[in-house]
Amino acid sequence: MEHTANIPNTKRLLIWGAGDQGTVALDCALATKKYSRIDFLDIREKGHRQIPGYRIYEEAKENINTLLPSYDEVIVASGSNYLREKKIAQILAAGVPLATLIHPTAVISPSARVSKGCTILANAVINSNAYVGIGCIVNTNAVVEHDCLAEDYVNICPQVSMGGHAKIGRRSFIGIGSTILDHITVGRESIVGAGAVVIRNVPDGVTVVGVPAKRRL
Ligand SMILES: CC(C)(COP(=O)(O)OP(=O)(O)OC[C@H]1O[C@@H](n2cnc3c(N)ncnc32)[C@H](O)[C@@H]1OP(=O)(O)O)[C@@H](O)C(=O)NCCC(=O)NCCS
Repeated sequence: MEHTANIPNTKRLLIWGAGDQGTVALDCALATKKYSRIDFLDIREKGHRQIPGYRIYEEAKENINTLLPSYDEVIVASGSNYLREKKIAQILAAGVPLATLIHPTAVISPSARVSKGCTILANAVINSNAYVGIGCIVNTNAVVEHDCLAEDYVNICPQVSMGGHAKIGRRSFIGIGSTILDHITVGRESIVGAGAVVIRNVPDGVTVVGVPAKRRL
């Protein structure tokens, strides 16, 4: 039997992204009690906000190829699916482990799979046989029901409900409080507006809004 209670937390985490999502990732990382040190690296395209008590490196001034490997794990904290994919590619190219942040109040079925580089926030539920791809965000109180599939770099906002067997394509954004009915597929690089109820499949690269959700031209 493995005993972990007395293992000291010696891992150093770099949060790449020092904006709003960065502070959310910080809270989540602290709640895991896995890290002895946490620093930030801002995202060049975004800049940074003040985060009192924490060191913030600036991407524009740093040599990323030496900075990244000086940490045990790196997580990318940005709501932009495009930027998460871009920065995660750099982390993987540098051979540095991607962190996966899972808030201790999240409930994840033993049969579900959460890939590396994901951030799973407070009270999120990922039910049996669901799969969440690389670099996804499953935000506060979101429910990813049994047998759902979220491809890589998807952003599932707070209070989203996905019914069983629903699918979300790569780099899609599912707005706050929206509902995706069971067995429905949202294509790749699509946007589901806040509060939408998606009752029919959504093709790639479109925005849908409303109840029931309709394509916004
Ligand atoms: C759908 C969305 C991406 C559209 O953004 P946008 O392209 O800037 O759209 P606009 O604000 O210019 O609105 C365009 C039209 O769509 C309507 N609209 C926008 N969002 C809508 C929504 N969620 N539901 C219903 N209608 C919506 C607007 O009323 C407007 O209608 P009109 O042309 O008749 O006046 C955005 O409104 C949205 O819902 N984003 C999700 C935000 C979110 O979940 N944030 C959480 C972060 S954790």
